[in-house]
Amino acid sequence: MKLIDGKKIADAVKQEIAAEVEKMVASGMKRPHLAAILVGHDGGSETYVAHKVKACEQCGFTSTLLRFEAEVTEAELLTTIDKLNKDTDVDGFIVQLPLPKHIDEQKIIEAIDYRKDVDGFHPINVGRLSIGLPCFLSATPQGILELLKRYEIDTKGKNCVVLGRSNIVGKPVANLMMQKAMPGDATVTVCHSRSRDIKEHCLNADIIIAALGQPGFLTADMVKDGAVIIDVGTTRVPSTETKSGFRLKGDVDFENVAPKCSFITPVPGGVGPMTIVSLMKNTLLAARHDIYK
Ligand code: GUN
Repeated sequence: MKLIDGKKIADAVKQEIAAEVEKMVASGMKRPHLAAILVGHDGGSETYVAHKVKACEQCGFTSTLLRFEAEVTEAELLTTIDKLNKDTDVDGFIVQLPLPKHIDEQKIIEAIDYRKDVDGFHPINVGRLSIGLPCFLSATPQGILELLKRYEIDTKGKNCVVLGRSNIVGKPVANLMMQKAMPGDATVTVCHSRSRDIKEHCLNADIIIAALGQPGFLTADMVKDGAVIIDVGTTRVPSTETKSGFRLKGDVDFENVAPKCSFITPVPGGVGPMTIVSLMKNTLLAARHDIYK
């Protein structure tokens, strides 16, 4: 069994990005600039956004954090998005999800200029992804593919089961894994809360990408020997062993599944660090107008 070290790869990618940024600055270009909108005080969102701001520093980017109380109106957010769309100094921006119930998330996503949508959530980016055109790839799927690439994991013609059908992970990663590309070229099955025979699908899989948000869902009896396991789960569970009082738990019963695998990602330290690095990569692409002129 080989542990996929997402932290190590993420650090390497951040260094590559930082070197690229210094080259850009030396040639007279401005530093890439990422803005983030954070609404309310959800613990998970606060942590993710703090990590994103820190990653910007490590990559040599400028970052701006725009905070709003949970009571902010949809109209106020739309006005802020309009300003960011027009701000020529801002290369890309994100609105941290989830948003409070009184705000229409889809309306917010669609208000973002797709050329600054470094989360890759806008329907134009999602649509372009599904037909294999250049676009901003959403961060977690992109991070997963980068890990498969850097660990030279063969995906061509393999059976890949994706557990979960979210717009952020399940659907886009399934789409990427079936594209005519490397990584990709896999035979993809998507299982979700209404699927029957999930165990049988999993037992037939060479690669399982678990993105359900159900801690410990994937157990050893569901995994064939030599499978590649990518754990996207990051449920916060109470813990007496950490300062924050929480720890992250994946969708995979790591202890019992790991001995059966050829490769497996840990939680934390697997997919998580790659997600943030992919956002940095998209911001660099946005600053260089590599995808949209
Ligand atoms: N909430 C959970 N994951 C994400 C993400 O990748 N981007 C944003 N904006 N919100 C999230």
